[in-house]
Amino acid sequence: MAATSNTLIVRTRSGEPQLVQERLPLPIPGKGQVQVKSKASIKMPLAMWAVLGCDFVGEVTKLGEGVTRLAKGDIIARLIWGGEIPSLGGYSEYTIADQNISFKVPKGIIREQASTVPLAAATAWLALFSKDCLNLDRSKAAGTSVLVWGGSSSVGLYTIQLASLCGFDVVTICSPHNADLVRSCGAKHVFDYNDAKVIEKIQEAAPGLKHIFDTIGNTSSSSISSRALGDRQGHLCTVRPGKANTEQVTSNTNVTDVLVWTAFLKDHRYAHFYWPAHKEDHRLSSELFEKLPLWLEQGKIQPNKSKVLHGLDLVPEGFQEYRDGVISAYKIVYEL
Ligand SMILES: NC(=O)c1ccc[n+]([C@@H]2O[C@H](COP(=O)([O-])OP(=O)(O)OC[C@H]3O[C@@H](n4cnc5c(N)ncnc54)[C@H](OP(=O)(O)O)[C@@H]3O)[C@@H](O)[C@H]2O)c1
Repeated sequence: MAATSNTLIVRTRSGEPQLVQERLPLPIPGKGQVQVKSKASIKMPLAMWAVLGCDFVGEVTKLGEGVTRLAKGDIIARLIWGGEIPSLGGYSEYTIADQNISFKVPKGIIREQASTVPLAAATAWLALFSKDCLNLDRSKAAGTSVLVWGGSSSVGLYTIQLASLCGFDVVTICSPHNADLVRSCGAKHVFDYNDAKVIEKIQEAAPGLKHIFDTIGNTSSSSISSRALGDRQGHLCTVRPGKANTEQVTSNTNVTDVLVWTAFLKDHRYAHFYWPAHKEDHRLSSELFEKLPLWLEQGKIQPNKSKVLHGLDLVPEGFQEYRDGVISAYKIVYEL
């Protein structure tokens, strides 16, 4: 009988999607892939009929053909589109990793911290540097400002760090209780988004601002943040695939969106949107995952704070915390 492992999936029962645990056959790694036994996994809202979970940390248990970056026994962190591929996701004991979209966790970084990195850091990196997003020029970083709207979100914290590391001047907004945290990540100017004068203050701090990453993507964040451009032509990338909630941005704002799954060299569909395989985003993401171990080891990138929940049984509890909107500057990690 084929070996199986414990896995969290969504099944529809009586017309209602429900989270259930089932045993599924162990996944077989293909070319450039490894099989991984999971150790920690991150939250992801519902997806149908598939295994969920987008980030995970685990131990490499089997190598596929042509794997050179990773070895058996390595502890790795990786990104996976839980919910897209039937029977593959982060909320399972065994899963598959693409060697280019994974990194070996350096000594000194604990697993739950490492598991906060892949999804949020890759989203941040693509938003900043993909030709289809802000397309920032790393060779002209000095003196160039970037506004990170939502600096204390998980994506925001990595965006601040990556942009600062590359030499950009980061301006950001968050609640006052997270101001020191975002400053420690490298933000040069920090403002409270509930301050009635927040836009004027940003304009004063970054008078030539042309680039905004909206990491919140709610009904007002893109329109409010776009006002920071003043009369200049500028670019806003939203974290909402399909550019949701950007209808009210100022007329001089060019809107793009980021989809982290373009890190994988394959076509993607999200609702009625379609993204063809993107060689440049894959190459860019592969560069990030290659650099991450050293940046983490040297403390140039600090992982997000994590809140650990133990076992698949607590996944619904973590989902509820996410839906309730109470998460502030931490990420929920499930230890399996
Ligand atoms: N496009 C993609 O490929 C992709 C990939 C990953 C995630 N996402 C999306 O990115 C978004 C962010 O995800 P995340 O995990 O980074 O979020 P998160 O960490 O759960 O966000 C929580 C943070 O949001 C901030 N916040 C809440 N309301 C705000 C407001 N009105 N204005 C400014 N900040 C506000 C809070 O800041 P304070 O506590 O400081 O108030 C809190 O720290 C989600 O919508 C997620 O679905 C998209």
